[in-house]
Amino acid sequence: MGLFSSSTKEVPPIQEVPQHVAVIMDGNGRWAKKRFLPRVAGHQRGLESVRAMVKACVRLDIKYLTLFAFSSENWRRPPEEVTFLMSLFLEALDREVKKLHEANVILKLIGDRSAFNATLQQKMLEAEQKTAANTGLTLTIAVNYGGRWDVVHAVNQLLQAQLDLKQIQESDLTPYLSMPYAPEPDLFIRTGGETRISNFLLWQLAYTELYFTSTLWPDFDDAAFEAALTSYRQRERRFGRTSEQLVEPNAS
Ligand code: IPE
Ligand code: IPE
Ligand code: MG
Repeated sequence: MGLFSSSTKEVPPIQEVPQHVAVIMDGNGRWAKKRFLPRVAGHQRGLESVRAMVKACVRLDIKYLTLFAFSSENWRRPPEEVTFLMSLFLEALDREVKKLHEANVILKLIGDRSAFNATLQQKMLEAEQKTAANTGLTLTIAVNYGGRWDVVHAVNQLLQAQLDLKQIQESDLTPYLSMPYAPEPDLFIRTGGETRISNFLLWQLAYTELYFTSTLWPDFDDAAFEAALTSYRQRERRFGRTSEQLVEPNAS
């Protein structure tokens, strides 16, 4: 049913430039702290890096960009910071959607929306509908997203659709996961120096190349992105096979 193949079922096509880049935008708070600014100033500056990254992806003809903006665990932060992040998100939706639409970007939002108020949910829906028919970059923003939530939510959706199921296979589940419209990410980037996944795309990252950099998200510019892409180009993506098999694809 899915449009794209599963990396565990068949070897996907590989290109020099990744088709899908997924990013954990981390380090905003530390960026601000270094400058004796409140943490929220870091989030504000982080938005500039988002704009630059979107432009870079359009320019480089990268088809899918997925950004982790707020995790299902980020509710544990101080209430003032959570409130600020929510209003920043709402503001960004209001201000940026028109520009994204003009740039032919398809905007998608993934995560558990039930936690958001009706106004925000409505704005999210409108933004998606407005850009749905575009043909350029697909920009996915993960808000109140968790990798485990994604899998459990998909299982529940599947059970609702097919009550009599006794056993499932991968292909039954994948249409219900958060991003059936995108191939699995080729490249994962985490800024901010931590080397963990923090409950981001657990299922979808099965064979993704992981890139970690200590650059803080507000400092992540075109040159930093280029360094990540260079690292990606040097990887040998084997998907379980041997190096020799890559040189001669038909050798067994
Ligand atoms: C990432 O930056 C943004 C969000 C999680 C919303 P942080 O706010 O986690 O920044 P650090 O990790 O504290 O520096
Ligand atoms: C991950 O960053 C979530 C986002 C960037 C949205 P965190 O800063 O919340 O991750 P941990 O808590 O350090 O693992
Ligand atoms: Mg952090």
